[in-house]
Amino acid sequence: MPAYFRLAQVLVVAAAGLGGSVALAADANHGGELAKRWCAACHLVDSTQNQTSTDAPPFDAIAHKSDFTPEKVAFFLLDPHPKMPNFPLSRNEAADLAAYIGSLRKYPVQ
Ligand code: HEC
Repeated sequence: MPAYFRLAQVLVVAAAGLGGSVALAADANHGGELAKRWCAACHLVDSTQNQTSTDAPPFDAIAHKSDFTPEKVAFFLLDPHPKMPNFPLSRNEAADLAAYIGSLRKYPVQ
């Protein structure tokens, strides 16, 4: 892995640790691809999808919860809920997924 990539990873982690915005460094498009691959079995991940096999909350609903922040979702994903399979997500992937969910909000997160 090139050194500059490692550095970028470290910076994302540092920003998250300081309470800075993970979303700024994250790639929502990549998060969308990950969501379709890993999350769509249980969650509605975008408006083109109309069926899942579970009652997991749609990402659109998660994005519009009043206490939503990409940081919270990223940290949630690094320590998954018991009902969710334990994904081997890297911090970058968790941040990208969180940024993707954030991008579903009608109004940008502060
Ligand atoms: C095997 C089914 C399953 C898969 C796959 C899955 N989830 Fe979930 N997820 C759930 C269920 C069920 C809940 C609701 C848990 C609860 O509220 O008790 C949930 C809850 C969540 C929540 C919390 C919602 C809230 O109310 O705060 C987030 C965020 C989330 N999932 C993101 C993801 C992401 C991102 C992926 C893909 C990497 C994913 N999930 C894959 C089943 C799944």
